[in-house]
Amino acid sequence: MADLLQLIQTRRSVRTFTTKPVTREQIEKIFDAARFAPSGKNTQPWRFVVVESASKRQALAKLAPQDEMIATAPVTLAVLRDRDAGYDDLKDAQGIGAAIENILLAAHALGLGACWIGKTRNAAIEHVVGAKEHEELMALIPIGHPAGRSNDSSRLPLETIARFI
Ligand SMILES: Cc1cc2nc3c(=O)[nH]c(=O)nc-3n(C[C@H](O)[C@H](O)[C@H](O)COP(=O)(O)O)c2cc1C
Repeated sequence: MADLLQLIQTRRSVRTFTTKPVTREQIEKIFDAARFAPSGKNTQPWRFVVVESASKRQALAKLAPQDEMIATAPVTLAVLRDRDAGYDDLKDAQGIGAAIENILLAAHALGLGACWIGKTRNAAIEHVVGAKEHEELMALIPIGHPAGRSNDSSRLPLETIARFI
């Protein structure tokens, strides 16, 4: 496995996918990375739904903001927050963000591509993914084999984003 820092620096959002399937084993490895993320009081308020059947993927694509991406990805993960497990809106969101980053990095380490879709608060989408009454949708993550390189996204220089005091 490549060096962690190199993986972090080479990961990019992937928005187009080939039709090659993602295996159950790959998904399980990705979840193993997700569940070791830190969370406030170790409450682990994340829950995941793997949307892989053709009918569910189609239904999701009809509702999701970037329908083409969801329609072509062999799987899309729905990331849910379990309000009953969590205890604080901000801390739960931070922990779930950490889990999502682990998912993106694990996918990249496995040679897969993924994209974090954050604008998903929508009752109809929650219904399609089977969110329970105490769960709310935090993100959708289409995952698949990259069908081409994503755009290089530049980063702000260190002196703009960090201060040493
Ligand atoms: C909270 C969050 C929400 C995002 N939502 C979307 C989205 O709805 N659609 C999308 O295509 N990319 C989305 N992205 C991906 C960002 O556009 C992307 O990470 C950023 O442009 C940097 O590019 P990179 O991931 O290739 O390094 C989101 C990323 C984050 C962290």
